[in-house]
Amino acid sequence: MALHGMLLPQKLLLGALILVATAASQPDSSCNNTCGNLSIPYPFGTSKGCYLDHSFLITCNHSSGTPKPFLRSSTIPVLNISLLDGELRVPSLVAHDCHSESGLRVDDFYTWFRMSNFTFSYTKNKFTVVGCDTYGFIYGSGKKNYSTGCTAYCDRVDSVVNGSCSGMGCCQTPITEGIHNFNLNVYSYKNYSAVRDFNPCGFAFLVEEEAYKFSSLDLKQLQNRKYVPVVLDWAIGNQTCEEAQKNMTGYACKAKYSYCYNSTNGAGYRCNCSTGFQGNPYLPHGCTDIDECKTPNRCDYTQTCNNFLGGFNCSCLQGYEYDGRGTSCRAKVNQSKVITFALGISIGLLALVVGGSWISWALKRRKLLKLKERFFKQNGGLMLQQKLLSHRGSRETDKIFSVEELEKATNNYDKSKVLGQGGYGTVYKGVLPNNKVVAIKKSKISDQRQIEQFINEVIVLTQINHRNVVKLLGCCLETEVPLLVYEFITNGTLSDHIHNKSLASSLSWEKRLKIATETAGALAYLHFSTSMPIIHRDVKTSNILLDDNYIAKVSDFGASRLVPLDKKQLTTLVQGTFGYLDPEYFYTNQLTEKSDVYSFGVVLAELLTGNEALSFNRPESDRNLALYFVSAIEEDRLLQILEDNIVNEGNIQELKEVANLAKKCLSIRGEDRPTMKEVAMELEGLTIMVKHPWEKVDLHTEETEFFLDGNTRSFNIDVDIGCSSTTRYDSMMNQVLEPLDDGR
Ligand SMILES: *[C@@H]1O[C@H](CO)[C@@H](O)[C@H](O)[C@H]1NC(C)=O
Ligand SMILES: *[C@@H]1O[C@H](CO)[C@@H](O)[C@H](O)[C@H]1NC(C)=O
Repeated sequence: MALHGMLLPQKLLLGALILVATAASQPDSSCNNTCGNLSIPYPFGTSKGCYLDHSFLITCNHSSGTPKPFLRSSTIPVLNISLLDGELRVPSLVAHDCHSESGLRVDDFYTWFRMSNFTFSYTKNKFTVVGCDTYGFIYGSGKKNYSTGCTAYCDRVDSVVNGSCSGMGCCQTPITEGIHNFNLNVYSYKNYSAVRDFNPCGFAFLVEEEAYKFSSLDLKQLQNRKYVPVVLDWAIGNQTCEEAQKNMTGYACKAKYSYCYNSTNGAGYRCNCSTGFQGNPYLPHGCTDIDECKTPNRCDYTQTCNNFLGGFNCSCLQGYEYDGRGTSCRAKVNQSKVITFALGISIGLLALVVGGSWISWALKRRKLLKLKERFFKQNGGLMLQQKLLSHRGSRETDKIFSVEELEKATNNYDKSKVLGQGGYGTVYKGVLPNNKVVAIKKSKISDQRQIEQFINEVIVLTQINHRNVVKLLGCCLETEVPLLVYEFITNGTLSDHIHNKSLASSLSWEKRLKIATETAGALAYLHFSTSMPIIHRDVKTSNILLDDNYIAKVSDFGASRLVPLDKKQLTTLVQGTFGYLDPEYFYTNQLTEKSDVYSFGVVLAELLTGNEALSFNRPESDRNLALYFVSAIEEDRLLQILEDNIVNEGNIQELKEVANLAKKCLSIRGEDRPTMKEVAMELEGLTIMVKHPWEKVDLHTEETEFFLDGNTRSFNIDVDIGCSSTTRYDSMMNQVLEPLDDGR
């Protein structure tokens, strides 16, 4: 309007006429822009006033029931229309040439195609010939006349390659630009005489390259295919952009944010929305802004995305500013504030470090003092002190060692002094100033709670005075990891003596029984005779030491737990050694003295059989000695598994009794096992040939009843669950059935 308003007065009339004409070529809302499944964007249209000019008419034929689009008033169906690429797909006929056995041409079909305005795309279409005795030509016309062709040959059906159209059964060639019309011809060299059984015809067609994949089946089956898709390029008019823009009246790029480009395939031009816009450039308000900020992560996290007409930008978020290069953002900083802040931080930190360390030092010191004090009072520490006082000078026991003393004794924990290493720490051999040899254990304890426990145990252990428990001489609490000082036992572990062949032969049954009896006695003592029961938790042959006279010494209380007298069992993290570990404890986490009984049962089995508690040399089912041992007794194979050199005429009965005792110790349920006291008594009885069968002692009635009660309750709970799930099932059925009933 503004444009026309600027025209000179004498041209006004003409301008108004043009305006009317232009307005008439704009589609209005009543235009139907679909036909069946095909969407028909302007400049195409199905009725007068809805298309740009007659070449963009799509006739929608409703006669067959389903609407079918045809190009203009032709019989050429339209497959689809692309606005963006300026393309149109239509079907194209397949030319063929078939011969009978006698060589007569029985069916031939040459095709042609005439397009008044649109051109065949030379980038997307290919002239294609299929056959094994075949050649074909395409004759094109438009801007100029032109012809090309190709030959397809093959002698066997299996020599063709599916998907490859390079002369073997199929050939292809591009066409030139600007073609409006074409004719196709297809011929044979030898009338298919040599290949008839798999290829009686030849075919030629122009096809969208992407839409046709050659297959060996086509040599026969292409006869059944009438059409292949072909791509047409459409354009507006026959002018270039410049020419059209000179005469604005007919210029088709109506949208404000659009541009014009010339067709590369024949005359005419097309339109496109400017970058940053999308839509239909042929409509006055067709190109709309793309909101780029709707696409996630357009800008980084320090920035905010701003959309504007035709584009977007990223700007720094509040509190951020552009860095030197102006490409990314960084947090805003105020120079003077920075200095104050940094200074403040440094001074603060310094104060914190100095103050903190002083406070923590003071706190630590106080805590340590308090801890020591508390334990001294609480856990017989006073008694320990008294003992220390009373024994001072007379005996070298129950001593608190200093760090320096022990460092000197172990040559600063030299590697050569390591006696052994385990999960709970490292044991060093040390020599005290008075030439007494000791074993010093450095425990692996890290957190404070464990240290409290540890001190607790140390205090109790210092009170233990049993001939068959390794004597704790003292400890050192001044270090972060507590140190324990034990008497040094000279003859190694029971494990060495059982499993080392040369040592095992000199370990007679009498010695073994004596060691077992002594060990059982020591454990019974720990369980029943100390002020608080102690559960060793890691009874195994490598924790039973022997001195020169084969006197057993139970050692390593690193895992041991004190059981307060008012508690029958403790819930703990499972600890111990596989092969010796009580399965009930393993599964329930409930620690009782019976766990030690189980482990002792394994020690007995080891003494009897000479086998390792857990051995990967045995077949898988026999790896665990406890299981292997019990099943052997149950199958009456005891004599086969006993250590050879301990069996003699006189002791079979005794061995059987010890084996049975071991079996009872290895009962799966803790309550079925004897107590350590009973075990010790039975073993002692055997050594002096007086029997004290433990079975008659029935201390467990109360516990059994408790368990029964527990079982009954859990049984009831099971029944409840059963009932409620049945109910739920019923209601679910109803829910499913109800809608069905309603429907009827
Ligand atoms: C046109 O048809 C071809 C194949 O028939 C298809 O791949 C393409 O996506 C279609 N294009 C449009 C715009 O519908
Ligand atoms: C080509 O593929 C068709 C199935 O798509 C198959 O039946 C035929 O044997 C294949 N021909 C060759 C030569 O691989």
